[in-house]
Amino acid sequence: MNIAIPESIKVWSQFIHPVLMWVLLAMTIYALYLGLKIRQIRSVEGETKKKLIKDRYNIRHYQIGSILLALITIGAFVAMAVTYLNNGKIFFGSHLIIGLIIVSLVVTSASLSPLMQKGSMWARNVHFAINIGVLGLFSWQAITGVRIIQNIVSKM
Ligand code: HEM
Ligand code: HEM
Repeated sequence: MNIAIPESIKVWSQFIHPVLMWVLLAMTIYALYLGLKIRQIRSVEGETKKKLIKDRYNIRHYQIGSILLALITIGAFVAMAVTYLNNGKIFFGSHLIIGLIIVSLVVTSASLSPLMQKGSMWARNVHFAINIGVLGLFSWQAITGVRIIQNIVSKM
């Protein structure tokens, strides 16, 4: 397929995905912080508990979580499209495979939301465990991602 996109736009579009993903990595760490606060609410009593509930960590977490769900998925697809546009193919390497695993994991962990909202403890624990995995893989992507950027820049 031959799409008539100016060369400079093609080349510079390669920076959209890395910049977006760094922002999302920071947001994922923030989501973890909010999630841990939700967990903390169950183990405290009295005034501390009232204050924690007033800070609406569950709502804030759900909002950040929803944004992450959407943008991590879009971000991965954008990367594949841009890679294809610049190289006429997609590279079947670890960054691609782990990227697709991350998307699958985030979708799965988000699908547990209705159960968690009904109070299911196993759903909360599975959600927590999956997302710790996501955070680990995401950090790994950041490292391999920077290597890919170095490659792209060295060819510019
Ligand atoms: C990507 C990083 C994420 C991390 C690190 C994370 C982490 C956590 C943690 C630690 C909890 C507390 C579990 C407990 O109550 O014991 C939690 C709860 C929850 N998470 Fe996430 N989560 C993430 C993404 C998401 C996403 C994408 C969604 C949905 C769109 C979501 C929806 C929820 C809901 C509905 C709860 C239950 C809140 C409540 O009990 O009121 N999370 N999360
Ligand atoms: C800070 C973290 C990350 C950096 C710096 C980064 C960087 C890059 C770069 C430079 C490319 C080449 C194509 C392009 O520039 O558009 C790429 C491709 C790609 N990235 Fe990332 N990335 C990161 C995180 C992620 C994450 C979290 C995912 C999945 C959710 C992901 C999925 C992909 C996919 C599917 C491709 C296309 C296939 C490939 O070229 O291997 N990346 N990434």
